[in-house]
Amino acid sequence: MIIRHMNEQDIEEVLLLEKELFSAPWNREHFLFELNENPFSLCLVGIVEEKIVSASCAWIIYERAEISTIGVHKAYQRKGYAKKMLEMIHHHAKNNGVNQIFLEVRVSNQPAIALYEYFGYKVSKVRKNYYSDNHEDAYEMMAEVKNLVK
Ligand SMILES: CC(C)(COP(=O)(O)OP(=O)(O)OC[C@H]1O[C@@H](n2cnc3c(N)ncnc32)[C@H](O)[C@@H]1OP(=O)(O)O)[C@@H](O)C(=O)NCCC(=O)NCCS
Repeated sequence: MIIRHMNEQDIEEVLLLEKELFSAPWNREHFLFELNENPFSLCLVGIVEEKIVSASCAWIIYERAEISTIGVHKAYQRKGYAKKMLEMIHHHAKNNGVNQIFLEVRVSNQPAIALYEYFGYKVSKVRKNYYSDNHEDAYEMMAEVKNLVK
């Protein structure tokens, strides 16, 4: 898989991926904001055979980062692609002086929780009623950059 920065021409394909994976997918305006207006945003796509199979955005805000979305096309899951995307985000975070990385994940999302635990993220908080679509709770997970599994 080749990982590169997302650009505006990728958005159509990324939206299809979002719809496949998420019950509350991001829309075009959301990605346009991330690409054009949010100075802290890092959005990446993973390409296999000229197809976007993975997308992820993170916010790198001085010494703190937040992973805002990550997804891998269903047909390409369990091949290590999410690990590769996260490794790239971790690399950018380290190079920009980030100390801690945060994210939120649905408490029922065992595959994602297992992925984050693999790198050393730990649950730091439970956010009650976090998701507006089904009122599910979120785990806030956090990793110290210096402790991340490479
Ligand atoms: C979570 C997600 C991104 C993982 O992508 P992936 O490319 O399949 O993950 P990887 O192949 O890199 O797996 C890395 C590790 O994560 C864990 N993992 C991934 N999928 C798993 C599953 N279905 N069950 C249990 N553990 C899983 C494993 O520890 C795995 O390592 P292993 O394969 O050596 O056991 C993918 O399932 C996805 O897109 N889900 C829908 C969107 C989503 O929920 N995103 C997260 C929002 S917070």
